[in-house]
Amino acid sequence: MIILGIETSCDDTCAAIVKATGRKTPRFEILSSIRSSQADIHREFGGVVPYLAARAHVENMNPVLKGAFQDAGYAIKDGKKIINLIAVTSHPGLIPCLLIGTSTAQTLAWRWSKPIIGVNHLDGHIYANWVNPIGVNPKSEIRNPKPQHYKSSGFKYGARQVQNIKFPAICLVVSGGHTQLVLMRGHGDFKIIGETRDDAAGEAFDKVAKLLGLPFPGGPPIERLAQSARNIAEQTQNNAEKIPRPSAFSQRKSARELQLPRPMIGSKDYDFSFSGLKTAVLYLVQKEFTSHRKLLISDLQLAALCAEFQQAIIDVLIAKTIRAAKQYNAGTVILGGGVAANRELRKQLGKAVKRQLPATDYRLPTTALAVDNAVMIAIAGYFDYLGGKSKTWKDIKARAVV
Ligand code: KG4
Ligand code: ZN
Repeated sequence: MIILGIETSCDDTCAAIVKATGRKTPRFEILSSIRSSQADIHREFGGVVPYLAARAHVENMNPVLKGAFQDAGYAIKDGKKIINLIAVTSHPGLIPCLLIGTSTAQTLAWRWSKPIIGVNHLDGHIYANWVNPIGVNPKSEIRNPKPQHYKSSGFKYGARQVQNIKFPAICLVVSGGHTQLVLMRGHGDFKIIGETRDDAAGEAFDKVAKLLGLPFPGGPPIERLAQSARNIAEQTQNNAEKIPRPSAFSQRKSARELQLPRPMIGSKDYDFSFSGLKTAVLYLVQKEFTSHRKLLISDLQLAALCAEFQQAIIDVLIAKTIRAAKQYNAGTVILGGGVAANRELRKQLGKAVKRQLPATDYRLPTTALAVDNAVMIAIAGYFDYLGGKSKTWKDIKARAVV
């Protein structure tokens, strides 16, 4: 079965063509995957502006769809002949954005008389783990940098067989809009056992980055600075004389004062809260701004602060995930969502699973499939289709919430 996936729930316009074979243990092959990022548009606002995003989706949709068909070796007009199923993100997300994807998918489903599935975006982040791209694509260059900013995903098309995933699985879904712990007992059987009470983990990265004058989206620059702090800390150990210690936030602040809270790490439930962490960062830096909102701390201090902030988030996420995996006797711990692109989170969660749950498998998506993409939507759509959830174009409704 050949599936066309479409994703527009936030600020990425994505389309992918995925081949699915088998019912019991399906195998997925990526024929194409195009992602058009709008980061440049939203950067000046430090967050996604829904109506600007929707307008950009309208502009980007056609070239992105065209690119997905082209990369798979077809033209859009071949759609009626080759596509068997259309999968589109219908919820949760920003309504003006979702509507561009759903109405495009509905139009194609109507025009080509195809079944259509409205996919839960968060299921998609989990199902990104059901495909294993062959490797990094050396030719994943940005094409058409203006005005569409679209590029092929950073992996080679095709896929290796994915090892069987053992249920029940505990899934940590960490994105810009959501932070959830999900118990997955089987395909289509998802139960949210915990979620954030305020900001999502990705949102916290984005807001703290804005506070510190770093570009949007905030995850990648914070990760880069945190890594540089680590490198400096390592060098400092080897060469204590020459390199200043990064832990002292400013001449007046001791390493102890730089410590940030680990919100709700000890609470008995599986919920999260990250907005206080953001405020804690604000309190730390608020006396360090000039009257023109310029942050007056050294690069080293900024890096140390980013490292501590990133670690605070990672500590809470890992503690809760491991506790849930123990309680539910998880066969697999699954990571998904844009924050799953964070190398420290990927590494440290893997280590924690290995150390504390040696019988449990650990699955994580390729970085290019951790952030929003349409491959994951096509795969989730296939499992929904197997579960008998396919509809006609008239039945698809965009919804803001799960
Ligand atoms: O899943 P996603 O692409 O979109 C949503 O569904 O929200 O996630 C986007 C989020 C953003 O908040 C971004 O800052 C975060 O993922 N992110 C990262 C990293 N890369 C993206 N957070 C931490 N470290 C990263 N390397
Ligand atoms: Zn997402």
